[in-house]
Amino acid sequence: MRSRYVIGNWKMHTLPSEAEVLAREIVEHASVPPASEGGIGVVLCPPFTSLNSVIHTLNGSAISVGAQDCHHLAQGAYTGDVSAQALLELGCSYVILGHSERRRYHLETDIQIGQKIAGATEAGLCPIVCVGETAEQRNADLTFRVVESQVTAITHAAGVDAMNGCIVAYEPIWAIGTGVSATANQAQEVHAFVRSHLLSLGVIDISILYGGSVTSSNASELFASADIDGALVGGASLLASSFVSIVEALAKT
Ligand code: PGA
Repeated sequence: MRSRYVIGNWKMHTLPSEAEVLAREIVEHASVPPASEGGIGVVLCPPFTSLNSVIHTLNGSAISVGAQDCHHLAQGAYTGDVSAQALLELGCSYVILGHSERRRYHLETDIQIGQKIAGATEAGLCPIVCVGETAEQRNADLTFRVVESQVTAITHAAGVDAMNGCIVAYEPIWAIGTGVSATANQAQEVHAFVRSHLLSLGVIDISILYGGSVTSSNASELFASADIDGALVGGASLLASSFVSIVEALAKT
């Protein structure tokens, strides 16, 4: 089943005390329509160190919490890593996996990302799985080939069962944090391609979000596209008013 989401990726921003203030501002101002009224999922993904304060601040609200990574195993001698089981017990429901910043700075591969998806779904978390091409790849007309190979490798490593029910985020790397979003047409054609490719692999239950310089100014146009089920928002999720405007834009679509 396709669902619609606005998800805030706070990256390595906010101290625990600041995260609590931002989460409170968002929960006080965002009106999240319930599922019965074409509802949308709203998720905040703060740094690990702010998860606890954000979970407590949002307790009892319609807004959920996600982490930005997890290990693929439930426990073990992995200093500095965090398991999906621990995140679930803390109160997380989602986890971002395979963000391009993890691929770039931590050399994560599609196979590792697939293993993390399997581990996260086994634990009961919903993965938000990121794919997307670099500027060089787009300029060389390789966008579809790159995204196809990421989706195929991730699905093979995770297994079709684990992929069903996940959220995929198409995040062109050239659009992340640059202020230059993909156009609605550019995003739509990749989303339609990813959806049909996943279908051909047996993944029928998927929501596909766009990420990369989404703001309150361009959100409505992106959300009007047939295959865009919402947004993964970085910079604009750090200001309550802009994040709330993006939530409202999706609710109105
Ligand atoms: P951005 O980041 O909205 O700041 O471009 C999106 C992301 O990296 O998830």
